[in-house]
Amino acid sequence: MKEEGLLLSDLPAQFELLIETEINPEANSSLEGLYLSDGAYCTQCEAEGFRRITYYLDRPDVLAKFTTKITADKASFPFLLSNGNKIGEGELENGRHWVQWEDPYAKPSYLFALVAGDFDLLEDTFTTKSGREVALQIFVDKGNLNRAPHAMTSLKNSMKWDEERFGLEYDLDIYMIVAVDFFNMGAMENKGLNVFNSKFVLANSDTATDTDYLGIEAVIGHEYFHNWTGNRVTCRDWFQLSLKEGLTVFRDQEFSSDLGSRAVNRINNVRIMRGPQFAEDCSPMAHPIRPEKVIEMNNFYTLTVYEKGSEVIRMMHTLLGEANFQKGMKLYFERHDGTAATCEDFVKAMEDASGIDLGQFRLWYSQSGTPVLDVTTAYDSSAKTFAMTVKQHTPATADQKEKQPLLIPFDIELYAQDGSVIELQRNGQKVDNVLHVTDAEQTFVFEGVNEAPKVSMLREFSAPVKLNYDYSDEELAFLMVHARNEFARWDAGQMLLAKHIKANVARVQSGESVEIPADVIDAFRGVLLNKELDVALIAEVMTLPSENEIGGWFDVVDVDAINLVRDAFKSAFAKELEDELSAVYHTLAQDEYSIDHAAIGKRTLRNVCLGYLALNGQGDELVNAHYAGSKNMTDTAAALGAANHAQLPCRAALMQSFSDKWQHDGLVMDKWFMLQGCNPAANAWKT
Ligand code: SER
Ligand code: ZN
Repeated sequence: MKEEGLLLSDLPAQFELLIETEINPEANSSLEGLYLSDGAYCTQCEAEGFRRITYYLDRPDVLAKFTTKITADKASFPFLLSNGNKIGEGELENGRHWVQWEDPYAKPSYLFALVAGDFDLLEDTFTTKSGREVALQIFVDKGNLNRAPHAMTSLKNSMKWDEERFGLEYDLDIYMIVAVDFFNMGAMENKGLNVFNSKFVLANSDTATDTDYLGIEAVIGHEYFHNWTGNRVTCRDWFQLSLKEGLTVFRDQEFSSDLGSRAVNRINNVRIMRGPQFAEDCSPMAHPIRPEKVIEMNNFYTLTVYEKGSEVIRMMHTLLGEANFQKGMKLYFERHDGTAATCEDFVKAMEDASGIDLGQFRLWYSQSGTPVLDVTTAYDSSAKTFAMTVKQHTPATADQKEKQPLLIPFDIELYAQDGSVIELQRNGQKVDNVLHVTDAEQTFVFEGVNEAPKVSMLREFSAPVKLNYDYSDEELAFLMVHARNEFARWDAGQMLLAKHIKANVARVQSGESVEIPADVIDAFRGVLLNKELDVALIAEVMTLPSENEIGGWFDVVDVDAINLVRDAFKSAFAKELEDELSAVYHTLAQDEYSIDHAAIGKRTLRNVCLGYLALNGQGDELVNAHYAGSKNMTDTAAALGAANHAQLPCRAALMQSFSDKWQHDGLVMDKWFMLQGCNPAANAWKT
């Protein structure tokens, strides 16, 4: 026995090895390997937890078929679970029993799972498209059964969606999910036996917000989708983590977008990119989506590997189109099912299936940092041409000084003053909206442009880059109304805010006061009053960029100035748009609670309005009434959030009322702690 493991020498070419290992899960506080969570034994083996259970070739490229026999006291541990199908069970003396499981699919040890405990069980079934019936089981802490149905619905939706969109069917007779309170990650895709943080399983209208509901749908989907992208095809080594994570995040984002609002989902994903992921990508933590050196694997479950990894898959989807992308997926599974693959294998499958050269594109896997696009335009009224010059550069990062130009899919659209679309034409040919930016500097000339156009750029956030273009307020206000695509309209609003927030941070730094032009406020008034827009989209347009995202616009982050300016924008919107906000707030009141997307959209916008109105004279009264009248956690949390942010007199009483009601429930009390954590009061540390 060595520090690092067990070393066996002088062995025959073939042999059978029996290892008996004694471990103490009660004393294991790392939440890796086998440990105790609130009376139940459970495992977490990704990335390198299995070696805490026994000596093993604990690498993702070592695939084996596992048979697991579990023996325990029956009264305390009536459920004994592991991967695959149950092949035997029996009673023993002294109140003990055993269960044996066999997983017919070869897998790496990081996908091993074992759970032993006493739970409440929600059961259902799903019939796959080829007619096989799969037993579905969700295990939750005793007393929580009424909080499991949403997870079950989400699971069935995931199974159906993967068949319809990707043609992928489930491959075992049983699919189990266990919710535990103590879990480091969101959840884990162990073959046939997912282990989840309770936060991503348990929900009912009293305890969970709309955001929680959507989070559960996304994470249940994510782990289910891993069954093919992660489990059937796994990673050759941990440097390839994004092979399964980037791809599976892409798949769960598409699932949420197909079931709900595509625009709102895209907006939320982009907010994560522009906020925390961009911050990570220019920090001392910067690393490519396929890292080149790893000391502790746990440190690489990052926004870069997951979210930027998903953006890289999405760019391939944009470059190839859905049909070619699906051909690529099919080829990838034909070639690599049952094996441990690499990111290169995936790109190669996409390339071979589509015939599209992804040579330069591969740099996205090895280059870290956020590329910057500087765009300038020129309209030539006599030649009727419009020229766009695009310069790209990626600033040096802590891990990499030299950067090369990337292949950047750059999605644009041109509009005439009357809002009509100007067809894109180059060299006498009609061309696609997605330009291929490949050089450090490149000029694209469009012909047949009869007037100086307004240009919508980086539509759908077609690449994870920063965009600089000197838009006028008038152009952005135009795009907020006329851009055909909802995401582009939202993004124009964000750019208009960005422009004036930036200018005001500079003003504040030189001792001047915040100034917001009336046309900026009016652009947002127009959105608020627009009866044709989806209310969920209006809510997103009316939401200011986070402090985190704003910080990313500066080389030196002046936290106080940013906070002051952002608050001033909020107050100005509240004051100038009071009548409109109030009208929308009152029109959107709902008698019945449901979690369909239309109802969620209405609640979101109503609560965005509440957040602004809380800042005005009647704020305390309104928020108090909102809290008192709330019949669901979304509205309750919105009232608390508004009271907290606006520092209303009712804040203390509402926080007290909430903790009196929920102090027995850790999951719900997390919301209370979160509010305490972001209490903006200068003396928050004392309260
Ligand atoms: N592999 C897990 C996931 O991403 C992390 O534990 O779902
Ligand atoms: Zn994952």
